[in-house]
Amino acid sequence: MNSDDKKPSAGAAVKIENVSKIYETRDENVHALDRVDVEITPGSFVAVVGPSGCGKSTLLSILAGLVPLSSGRVLIDGQSVRKPHPKVGVVFQTDLLLYWRNVLDNVLLPIEIKHLGREKYRPEAIALLNQVGLQGFEGKMPSELSGGMRQRVAICRALIQEPGLLLMDEPFGALDALTREQMIMDLQSMWRRVHNTVLFITHGIDEAVFLADRVLVMSPRPGRIDLDLTIDIPRPRQWTGVHEDKAFQHYVRRVRETFEARGVLVER
Ligand SMILES: Nc1ncnc2c1ncn2[C@@H]1O[C@H](COP(=O)(O)OP(=O)(O)OP(=O)(O)O)[C@@H](O)[C@H]1O
Ligand SMILES: [Mg+2]
Repeated sequence: MNSDDKKPSAGAAVKIENVSKIYETRDENVHALDRVDVEITPGSFVAVVGPSGCGKSTLLSILAGLVPLSSGRVLIDGQSVRKPHPKVGVVFQTDLLLYWRNVLDNVLLPIEIKHLGREKYRPEAIALLNQVGLQGFEGKMPSELSGGMRQRVAICRALIQEPGLLLMDEPFGALDALTREQMIMDLQSMWRRVHNTVLFITHGIDEAVFLADRVLVMSPRPGRIDLDLTIDIPRPRQWTGVHEDKAFQHYVRRVRETFEARGVLVER
């Protein structure tokens, strides 16, 4: 238990019930997910690690309502997901910013699409940008920013809708090591403030254990949950020195052993 668990949560409840996915292509059927069954309590931070091609993005896309499942059910706050849900924000591996709109206009895009009133949300957009260290960059174009800055804008764009569920698909995969560390710390602070439900997909065992309350380890395709590991390390967690922490090392070892038992290497 840590102090965060006692705060009321703005997060959505997620139920993934026996979800399987088979992609039917012209020449073959690809069995991507096999009876994935997970229940996520509101406000928890769940990380998913697994070998390349095991179905992580497929699972995220099903939760986002972007890909239909083949069997099973996905429920967000008790509602079955069939199309993109208004309470869900998504951050992809590439930032997908619109290059012809400046930073502020990119963050406000979901508000415009939903006709929620640009002016009303403007202060919120600026506050979010300040929180991730982008004060003064509101008027810049994406081409004027670094990769890490662009990814921060994408995170602000997902957060402006106050998503009860934030889905992140390897958001830091393309960043250099230092920027990645900063983003990991920023994400922890953001989550401790907002306290929404997060599903975070990554190849990095260390960032999964560092950030999450729970790490789900997936098997090679067809993806199943091989290990469901509760991470009991008090927060706030400090990245500096975490690799020497005994509890951290223990959890990383558990994840590694699960992969090794499957003959899988993951970190690149
Ligand atoms: N639209 C599609 N049509 C057919 N097969 C697909 C489609 N999308 C994904 N697949 C297949 O489903 C499997 C799982 O893909 P997915 O993208 O979910 O894996 P992943 O775990 O996210 O991999 P990575 O870590 O490399 O991002 C792969 O074998 C992939 O080729
Ligand atoms: Mg993927």
